[in-house]
Amino acid sequence: MFKAIYLNDIENTILRNKRRDADAYEKEDVSITEWITNWDFKKNNIDLFTHKIHRYPAMFIPQLTRKLIQKFSEPGDTILDIFCGSGTLLVEATLLNRNSIGIELNPLALLISKVKTTPLNLSNVIKHYEKMIDMYFNPSLDFNLINFNNIEFWYKKSAIKNISKLIFSINKIPDIDLQDFLKISLSEILREVSLCKHSGFKMHRDSRKEKKEWYKKELFDYFHKTFIKNLGGLVEYQNAIEGITAKCIILNGDSRRIHKQVKKGSVDLIITSPPYGDSRTTVAYGQFSRLSSQWLGLGKELNVDVAQVDNELLGGKTKNTEIDDDVIFKSITLKNIQENFLYKLSNLNKDEKEYKKFLKRVKDVISFYKDLDSTLSNASYYLKNKKFFILITGSRIVKEVKLHTDIIIAELAEHYGLELKSIMYRNIINKRMPYKVSATNIVGEKSSTMTRESIIILQKE
Ligand SMILES: C[S@@+](CC[C@H](N)C(=O)[O-])C[C@H]1O[C@@H](n2cnc3c(N)ncnc32)[C@H](O)[C@@H]1O
Repeated sequence: MFKAIYLNDIENTILRNKRRDADAYEKEDVSITEWITNWDFKKNNIDLFTHKIHRYPAMFIPQLTRKLIQKFSEPGDTILDIFCGSGTLLVEATLLNRNSIGIELNPLALLISKVKTTPLNLSNVIKHYEKMIDMYFNPSLDFNLINFNNIEFWYKKSAIKNISKLIFSINKIPDIDLQDFLKISLSEILREVSLCKHSGFKMHRDSRKEKKEWYKKELFDYFHKTFIKNLGGLVEYQNAIEGITAKCIILNGDSRRIHKQVKKGSVDLIITSPPYGDSRTTVAYGQFSRLSSQWLGLGKELNVDVAQVDNELLGGKTKNTEIDDDVIFKSITLKNIQENFLYKLSNLNKDEKEYKKFLKRVKDVISFYKDLDSTLSNASYYLKNKKFFILITGSRIVKEVKLHTDIIIAELAEHYGLELKSIMYRNIINKRMPYKVSATNIVGEKSSTMTRESIIILQKE
């Protein structure tokens, strides 16, 4: 009986979501002036098409990306995102018939991007799902219990058993795209059914979850609900891209190095949002993704240790960076920031712990900009002459010093033939990211440093 209900949900979702226009975001009452000047997107629905699939830290607002694509490119152009995260740019580019390329290091983000941009063969979904249900609810199913480091710290035994059973059943589906789609739907609930705090991106055990049975329904019900929500988004997306010829390529790798697949001078537009700083002290993309990646065995084929992702991202490795690294001399703003830090350091005793901690933090900052600098150089290499490179970023405060990342980017980019055309500011209203971060390093003391982000427009000369 329950099986019929589950399958009925799928059928209804496929039929109900017949058509949503690719420009479903645009409010009819938006005037031209408002369209040009409004970058806040207060009123817009951010959960359309496949954008509703899986949350991810510091995602683009789809409408913002769309507005930039429309303004700075033509149908048939190629758009690149060198930090594509969960693929918002890729989805929007495809909806607008632009070819897109995404580069990303985090295995979970790569899988989310793939799922959000890959149409499914809908005619077989019900058949495969039915078999998967039969398998999952078979009391004598012979499945492997998944194990990874600290699994019992994060999950109760009953959850470990059910999740393992579900992954085993998903892996038996012969259609890999559907498998991935189901895995991402499962990934979306893996925090909720864990002993980890659900809010935030870092991993902290939630003592309230330990004490009681924290989820009321059978795991499968949570999973199914999420799957149906996602399927609705995919059907909308598939309908909207009917007849669209644009291709989307997702590359696994580090944007600090050149990717041979993207030829020199081949890209018409770059839109990207780099991390705001090193993952340890800003947004921990790796920690956010870790449980899902461990459960789903991601990273193995890519040769990535999913427990170490944060160390691989921009600014993750400080050991080769000195406080007077060459990058300092490419940006006067960065040089001023470094001098400000050096002055503060000179007031501390070199032998004290506080000095060493501060020095490490300063090196983290310099290392981040050093890494960012190499990605700017590579971006310029990919871009055609006269074309635009747009970065969306926030400026944080470290040790009470404001790091003007937008200005630093403009100054660094100049060395690679990229000229600053404009910087626009946007209030962060509906972006999924932590608004408060530690600016002083004093435990518990937080300041709301990132309430505004900058849209930096560079042009290759
Ligand atoms: C601000 S997020 C991008 C979010 C994306 N715009 C979206 O809508 O989901 C920055 C991304 O940069 C990735 N990243 C950091 N360092 C990287 C590197 N060296 N190479 C490639 N990707 C990197 C992080 O894993 C993260 O997903």
